[in-house]
Amino acid sequence: MKFFIDTANLDQIREANALGILDGVTTNPSLMAKEGIRGTEAIEHHYKTICELVDGDVSAEVLSTDFEGMVAEGKRLASLHSNIVVKVPMIKDGIKAIKWFSSNGIRTNCTLIFSAGQAILAAKAGASYVSPFIGRIDDSNWDGMELISQLSHIYTIQNFRTEVLAASIRSALHIVKAAEAGADICTCPLDSILGLLKHPLTDIGLAKFLEDAKKM
Ligand code: G3P
Repeated sequence: MKFFIDTANLDQIREANALGILDGVTTNPSLMAKEGIRGTEAIEHHYKTICELVDGDVSAEVLSTDFEGMVAEGKRLASLHSNIVVKVPMIKDGIKAIKWFSSNGIRTNCTLIFSAGQAILAAKAGASYVSPFIGRIDDSNWDGMELISQLSHIYTIQNFRTEVLAASIRSALHIVKAAEAGADICTCPLDSILGLLKHPLTDIGLAKFLEDAKKM
């Protein structure tokens, strides 16, 4: 399973990248706004900076919701750097735009996926990735991981090349469960990635080794 970081924060991207396990970055308008990035020039500059930091795919989301607008924006975003993957919302014109992008050699990430039906449509249109939002499904009292298992199964038996990118990850346990459910990629906040490191028995064991090392 590949690891992406789900943030537009450059320090967090650098920290995750320094671990040597980072395969890419996902952003969205909320994450960009959180970093205070405003205006087309600043947004494009920020995407380029991220692409120069990480050797992997960087999802950049279109803000238009009509076909022509999404195509124009996506073409521009894709021209910024070869690592850019155009993120497109799961709406009717989004499907049309994904089909256009896949026919024209531009990779896409279909975002805001909450059902298998949506994921099948995105795969048919040629999306490179689909992003099912695990945490938000859990928030509404459904099991987000069931969707990951279902999509992994459907894409395998139907030979879809679209990859399942587990998104809206809220914990280290989500990452483990996504791996178990067959996600191709997990995009995670830095805290969830670092959470994978933690186990109290590791801390206790290391403290004992260091204490005994003094006797060596
Ligand atoms: O990748 C999508 C993600 O950023 C959404 O996460 O926590 O806002 O549901 P969240």
